[in-house]
Amino acid sequence: MSTINIAIDGYAGCGKSTLARDLAKALNFTFVDSGAMYRGLTHLVLHSETNMDDGGAISDLLKSNPSLEFADETNHLLLNGEDVEDSIRNDKRVANNVSTVAAIGVVRAYLKAVQQSLIEEKSVVMEGRDIGTVIMPNAELKLFVTADMEERVTRRFLQLQESGKELSRDEVRENLASRDHMDETRDIAPLKKADDAIVLDTTILNREEQLTAALGLYSDLSD
Ligand code: DC
Repeated sequence: MSTINIAIDGYAGCGKSTLARDLAKALNFTFVDSGAMYRGLTHLVLHSETNMDDGGAISDLLKSNPSLEFADETNHLLLNGEDVEDSIRNDKRVANNVSTVAAIGVVRAYLKAVQQSLIEEKSVVMEGRDIGTVIMPNAELKLFVTADMEERVTRRFLQLQESGKELSRDEVRENLASRDHMDETRDIAPLKKADDAIVLDTTILNREEQLTAALGLYSDLSD
């Protein structure tokens, strides 16, 4: 059976993850959150006390072939079989260091192999920063999700408040802007719209409207 792949890229806090998850569910495709894998390796680097400025030490760590999988029901990230979802979502050290770890060449090469191995078996919706450009350059549908900065700040601010975290709007804005800057300016696989990606501006679209728009673009494929 042939598979169909959908790549979703974009800036932090644009709603990519929710959209990718909703789209995968609607189409019965596998959802792959590639950012979770970068967060998982950041957790591993921190917990093994590997110096992230030491390329050799990072290479050695990856030689142990850490496994990164998603649990069936919950979609939680399993690192070497251990559920690390709480750490990758809530540990500030992971959030503060993930862009640095994601800029390391051997880390990107390792995850590229893991991510590409997932697209051969089943149709996937994969979201991240380099999915349409590097991981799935032949994806049937590529979306590049954007939203105005103030809208992104509001969404992330409310999300953090809901989970009981106290951050000011200014802190949230600063965090989003600095991550975007690091993601866009790194040497390897920087965040960039693929030439054949369709821009989906979600500023004035709610969750349901985003899904409807994406499903519309998907059904246009068969026209
Ligand atoms: O999507 P996210 O916020 O969970 O991603 C966490 C970090 O990982 C983010 O700073 C960018 C990086 N990342 C990346 O470099 N390439 C990807 N395909 C996905 C995420």
